[in-house]
Amino acid sequence: MLRAMALRRIVTAEDPILRERTKKVSNFDASLHRLLDDMLETMRDAPGVGLAANQVGVPLQVAVIEIDERITELVNPRIVRSSGEQVDWEGCLSIPGYVAEVGRAAAVTVKAKDRRGREFRIKGTELLARALQHEIDHLNGALYVDHLDSLDELVRVGEHDADEEAGEAAG
Ligand code: CO
Repeated sequence: MLRAMALRRIVTAEDPILRERTKKVSNFDASLHRLLDDMLETMRDAPGVGLAANQVGVPLQVAVIEIDERITELVNPRIVRSSGEQVDWEGCLSIPGYVAEVGRAAAVTVKAKDRRGREFRIKGTELLARALQHEIDHLNGALYVDHLDSLDELVRVGEHDADEEAGEAAG
């Protein structure tokens, strides 16, 4: 049966689901595929470059990323290697209107499964590395603000030269 993709509501930072560790996916079935399809549409609508399942109220280890027209679906992802450092502006679709400069690994390798349960590895640098770390943080109940020394480091989108773009690159 055909089913159109649907937008799901993105929860914001005060929702406790964002602070829970998500559960491993064991059924790579139609409901997982629907979730991934809906998450892609919801992320594009926001717009953002990444979205984790608990951001749409589903406590499963599932995330999507789309950067430079390349879609990556991550199921049960794990960072298996990280190196270097980068500091750049970062935003979150669950903390709308704000960005901050966040230190992250410059490069990460992630092991994950695709929607059919096949294992794959993806290596990211720059924005992709940042998005991978941001989304996997979400799946572990962490938010980017946890990496800041103080919430005073949050800047409203539009109040800094660099952050307009970072607001669009939220995950
Ligand atoms: Co986020």
